[in-house]
Amino acid sequence: MMWKGLLHQYRDYLPVTEKTPMISLNEGNTPLIRLESLSKRFEIDFYVKVEGANPTGSFKDRGMVMAVAKAKEEGSSTIICASTGNTSAAAAAYAARAGLRCMVVIPDGKIAMGKLAQAVMYGAQIFAIQGNFDEALKMVRRLSEVAPITLVNSVNPYRIEGQKTAAFEICDQLGKAPDILAIPVGNAGNITAYWKGFKEYNEKHQTGLPQMRGFEAEGAAAIVRNQVIENPETIATAIRIGNPASWDKAVQAANESNGKIDEVSDGEILEAYKLLARKEGVFAEPASCASIAGVLKQLKSGEITKGSTVVAVLTGNGLKDPNIAMDAADIKPLVLPNDEQILFQHIQGVVHQ
Ligand code: F0G
Repeated sequence: MMWKGLLHQYRDYLPVTEKTPMISLNEGNTPLIRLESLSKRFEIDFYVKVEGANPTGSFKDRGMVMAVAKAKEEGSSTIICASTGNTSAAAAAYAARAGLRCMVVIPDGKIAMGKLAQAVMYGAQIFAIQGNFDEALKMVRRLSEVAPITLVNSVNPYRIEGQKTAAFEICDQLGKAPDILAIPVGNAGNITAYWKGFKEYNEKHQTGLPQMRGFEAEGAAAIVRNQVIENPETIATAIRIGNPASWDKAVQAANESNGKIDEVSDGEILEAYKLLARKEGVFAEPASCASIAGVLKQLKSGEITKGSTVVAVLTGNGLKDPNIAMDAADIKPLVLPNDEQILFQHIQGVVHQ
């Protein structure tokens, strides 16, 4: 059967009515890949949910298809979001698909190049403020209260509804919920959505519940520190957020599931980023790799034990942020003259080593 996207596939679990426009870019149905090498090395059953395989390259498509469909259903002509990049890419794409106007407010200079390219190409109106994500979100929240514009950040409950479908897919792909779900935390909408999804699926299908382990970047670890971070900083720009909107719900997910909100450093994120690409052939953007870094950290600390089934959510595609990749890699192209013999010498030198 052809996959027709989330609204179609999960309509019984979603606020889809007869009037909901069934828009789709065939989002969802993303791969769950077993990390063969790392599973063996750490003696766990280790999987990644590859959300970078979504149409705009991140998990945001799941929430955005629902939020944009409802905006259109309710007669809105314009959507708006604040974004560290991925939300704006998804909003712009689904707005284009649905024939709505899209406005995005981003922190100037702090979003990855691929994401900005997407917003430009999908035709959004882009406002780059000289401030951070938290400040941008505050502004668009206020604006959506006084202007006829639909806010599509994850404070829009339809976003959470759409995003919870990833938990359904994991349960179906594994046959049950994993022991541990590791997930990056920025604005904390996604951890909220996954926990809702696992609970709903468990009620319907007795798939069990994972422990929710959320990971913030150390320089933006508001929840871990239990204080707003005024000037969050991290190489993982997607989660450079100092005052998460769904803070309480993230804490609730961790508490109810016997899990934890933890933090990882930029160094740990970059190590995980490279390890994942080199040892497993999976390229995810830095923020996504906070989940892998978190698993590695908790394996060391003993908070994840051998034999556990662990799923790490890879929230965004590695191609979103080519600049970080080029800076992080120790491998650089070797530039040679246009000469067959010189090329042969170099390559034979390598294979004969
Ligand atoms: N990973 C990636 C790649 C993201 O883009 C985000 C959030 C997160 C993780 C964190 O998810 O906010 O639900 O806790 N990006 C938002 C954006 C903020 O604007 O694209 P969260």
